[in-house]
Amino acid sequence: MTNKEAVEKRRTFGIISHPDAGKTTLTEKLLLFGGAIQSAGAVKNNKIKKTATSDFMEIEKQRGISVATSVMAFEYLNKQINILDTPGHKDFAEDTYRTLTAVDSVILVIDNANGVESQTEKLMEVCRMRNTPVIVFINKMDRFGKDPFDLLDEIEEKLDIKVRPLTWPIGDGEDFKGVYNLYDKELNLFHANKTKIEDVLMKFNDLSDPQLDEIVGEKFANELREEVELINGVYDNFDQKTYLSGEVAPVFFGSAVNNFGVKELLHTFVEISPSPRGRDTDIKFIEPSDNKFSGFVFKIHANLDPKHRDRIAFLRIVSGKFERNTFYKHVRKGKKLKFPNPTSFMAKDKSVVDEAFPGDVVGLYDTGNFKIGDTLTEGTDMNFVGIPSFSPEIFQELRNDDPMKSKQLDKGIRQLMDEGVAQLFIQEPGSRKIVGTVGQLQFDVILHRLTHEYGAKCSFTPLNFHKACWITSDRQTQLDNFLKAKIGNIAKDKDDNLVFLAETPFLLEMAERDYPDITFHKTSEFKVK
Ligand code: G4P
Repeated sequence: MTNKEAVEKRRTFGIISHPDAGKTTLTEKLLLFGGAIQSAGAVKNNKIKKTATSDFMEIEKQRGISVATSVMAFEYLNKQINILDTPGHKDFAEDTYRTLTAVDSVILVIDNANGVESQTEKLMEVCRMRNTPVIVFINKMDRFGKDPFDLLDEIEEKLDIKVRPLTWPIGDGEDFKGVYNLYDKELNLFHANKTKIEDVLMKFNDLSDPQLDEIVGEKFANELREEVELINGVYDNFDQKTYLSGEVAPVFFGSAVNNFGVKELLHTFVEISPSPRGRDTDIKFIEPSDNKFSGFVFKIHANLDPKHRDRIAFLRIVSGKFERNTFYKHVRKGKKLKFPNPTSFMAKDKSVVDEAFPGDVVGLYDTGNFKIGDTLTEGTDMNFVGIPSFSPEIFQELRNDDPMKSKQLDKGIRQLMDEGVAQLFIQEPGSRKIVGTVGQLQFDVILHRLTHEYGAKCSFTPLNFHKACWITSDRQTQLDNFLKAKIGNIAKDKDDNLVFLAETPFLLEMAERDYPDITFHKTSEFKVK
């Protein structure tokens, strides 16, 4: 296979949702369609239940499962589909943000009764940063939910994206009759079916056909006629270009648990979603068609067995062909590495891969060489950009409780930060260690792992910070004044960048107002356009 053919064949995407909207269920149904799994339930445990706030067994189980489900690949209609798993638990949101840097498009699942929820808004902000194309799947139509027009308005308003329905629901809850495909002009009749994939399709080129009244009842038939007219009047025709540029999201309605509307979604996805896209580096934009191999690490997974420190680094291939046992350059370290056992993931199975192409993700066994964001190339000195750290929301001071074990603590915390478990900020004087995360659960994970894997003795003390912003300024005097005035709120990140830790949104606003020549960045990647 040539590089070009391989690129054309691949579709790499992620499914995102607020917890419980149906991401796991939809993932599973897509895998069933693709023949990657044989029965429902195979990826069901792929999430930490909401109740598991500090259940270590659950965390460990999750770590095991999430290696296996990190990338789920299958073939469908002659395309190689790579689904990159994103953790559902909100405390692992930063993992999800980073995974979104490695996908080329997303499917966003929304619960028809809850509409746009908080986690969805955050995830979509990350998608908007990169203009990632989005397809929306409004789920649980077999339950009573919000009015579909209201849902579409809510998506446009809260997620800052235009929408274009491609299917339209007829009723909901107990009255759910099915969906009408606005483009194929087909009626897909609903019937609850959790195990089989069987669509009942009927062509309806003309909605005034009285047969429609016979099938769905006069009331629903009339409603559909009116609503379709309204849709065609209100929304522009679907245009693939505006989808690919991330401006317009096509919308489907269905019920994942009943396999309903999933096939339509998958067919359209295969037809319109982008093949692997290029990525920007600090020297130039790299196209997937570039013959020279390049890729970046977006996720690192520690070994489950604390006696073995090796980890798996997940590499997204951006260009060229990755080959087993070939030397590649680890740009940050300036050294050459080769990989005897690169691994691919097919749902629950792992297998060694000899070669991989743009859009693919391979797992590389690592003994501590990689950090999140690292670039591997065939020799070019360049670094992929666009894998930023996001401002954490919870901060705690990490204290060493045993001076004899400070080496263990330093090593442990450094390695955990390389894995992206949390962010470490150092405050002088005294090298005070401030750990920032997006969720409380991370602190339990860190403490547990520092104690059990590294033999450290430590504890956390909560700090009253609300946000970390990276600060830059062209006006050195203003910056110096700021640093002097806010000395208790200034720290440095892992790359020695200055960070302002604000106690409240109000104090952050005040600082922005009082120091207009300082820029307060919400992500670490401010050097990039
Ligand atoms: P998540 O990964 O986004 O967190 O959601 P998940 O798929 O686990 O789905 C959350 C709950 O919603 C599950 O119920 C699931 O069965 C249900 N669900 C998913 N799709 C649909 C749908 O189309 N209609 C209806 N009515 N429910 C749906 P649960 O009670 O939490 O789990 P389970 O006991 O059913 O497995």
